[in-house]
Amino acid sequence: MRTEATGYPIERIRADFPALQQRIGAYPLVYLDNAATSLKPQSVVDTVCRHYREESANIHRGVHHLSQKATEAFEGARDKAQAFLNAARREEIIFTSGTTGGLNLVAHAFGAGLKAGDEIILSTMEHHSNLVPWQMLRDRTGCVLRFIPITDDGQLDLAAYDAMLGPRTRLVSVVYVSNSLGTVNPVARIIRAAHAHGARVLVDAAQAVPCRPVDVQALDCDFLVFSGHKVFGPTGVGVLYGKYDLLDAMPPFLGGGDMILSVTLERTVFNALPNKFEAGTPHIAGVIGLGAALDYVRGIGLDRVAAHEEGLRAYATALLAAIPGVRLYGTAPEKSAIISFVLEGVHPHDIGQILDSRGVAVRAGHHCTQPVMQRFGIPATARASFSMYNTRAEAEQLAEAVRAVKEMFA
Ligand SMILES: Cc1ncc(COP(=O)(O)O)c(C=O)c1O
Repeated sequence: MRTEATGYPIERIRADFPALQQRIGAYPLVYLDNAATSLKPQSVVDTVCRHYREESANIHRGVHHLSQKATEAFEGARDKAQAFLNAARREEIIFTSGTTGGLNLVAHAFGAGLKAGDEIILSTMEHHSNLVPWQMLRDRTGCVLRFIPITDDGQLDLAAYDAMLGPRTRLVSVVYVSNSLGTVNPVARIIRAAHAHGARVLVDAAQAVPCRPVDVQALDCDFLVFSGHKVFGPTGVGVLYGKYDLLDAMPPFLGGGDMILSVTLERTVFNALPNKFEAGTPHIAGVIGLGAALDYVRGIGLDRVAAHEEGLRAYATALLAAIPGVRLYGTAPEKSAIISFVLEGVHPHDIGQILDSRGVAVRAGHHCTQPVMQRFGIPATARASFSMYNTRAEAEQLAEAVRAVKEMFA
C-alpha cells in the first residue's frame, strides 16, 4: 500500500468530515462520488446549525439585532467568495442557487442582448446545464450555437475552436474541468483567443474550484460560475462572478424583493449590484455555510489539495488500467482526479451496485453529459471521483472491488 505524500494532513482532514466515520454494512465508506457532490466538514454543519439556532432572520431589511447579525454573516460570505476567486470588487459576486442557476442567469440577462445570427461557442463536453439554457436562448433569439469537438483522448480540439471564432462570436461558454472525462481545459488560452475576437467568456468552474486555485483576474474570464455543494458547502447555493461593467449593463433576470430601489404600480427602479441579481429571500443559511466551506478550503490550501489529488489520480488510474477489460474514457495529459471507465461485458450500473455492496460509492450513468457519451459511442460510464480527503488505500479498495465485479461476471 502507498501512503500519502509527507506533510499532507490527511488524518486531520478526514477527522473533520463526520460522514467519513461511518460504515456501509461491513465496510468503511469509501466515498468516490465527489464530482456529484462533496461531503461537508463539521465546521460547515456547525455554521449552518448556528445560523438557524441563533440568528435565523431575514437579511437586509431588518432593523433588529438578529437580522443585522444574519446580514453581516451573509455579506461576510460575499467577501469570502470575493477573496476565494480574487475578484476585483465584492459587487461582482452574485449568490445563485448553484452552477445551473448562474448559467441560466447569464443566458437570460446577457442573452437579452443577442440577436439572430450572433454566435455562441460551447463545447461537446459541457454539462447539460451549460447546453440546455443556450439551446433555449437560441430558440428565443435565433442565435447560432457552435460546438468545439473532443479529441479521442478527451481534450478540446483547439484548432477547431480557433477556426470557429469570428466577428459574429459573442460568447464562449466552456467547462474548466470536465465532470465526465476529468479533462482540465486550457481556459486561459481559450479566453485569450476569444477576447482577440471581441467575444466574452463564461467559465463553468463547478469541478475546478474544489481542486485548484481559481483566480478570475488572472484568467481574465468575463463570467464564472460554481456550486457550493461541490466545494464542501451546502446544496442550493452557488456563485456567479461577472466583471462589474458587464453585470451592470445587463438587465435583471428575476424580479422581486431586494432587487429594487423603488417600485410604483407603473415602473421599477432596479437596485445596484449585486442586489440587482438577487431577487427574493436568498438561501441565507446556505450562503453563510458556503462562507464557512470557503474558509475551510483556504485553510487547507488548494495548491496542496491539487498536489494530493494529482497523486491519487495517477495511482488510481494505474490500478484501474492494470485490470484486464477496463477501458478508461478521458486520458488527456491535464486531468483532475475524475476517472470514468467501463468494464467489458458489464453495465456501469451493475458496477456501481456491486461496488456499493462493498462500501465504495461511485456514480454510474451519463453524468449529465449525454453528448460526451454520444461522442464515444457508449451509453454510460462508471465514474470514481476523488477529493481532498481520499486516500491511496481507498484507490486500492476501488480497484479490488472492480476486480471482484470482473470475477462475478467472468
Ligand atoms: C461541470 C458541471 N457543470 C455544472 C454542473 C451543475 O451543477 P449544479 O447541479 O450544482 O447546478 C455540474 C454538476 O455536476 C458539473 O459537474
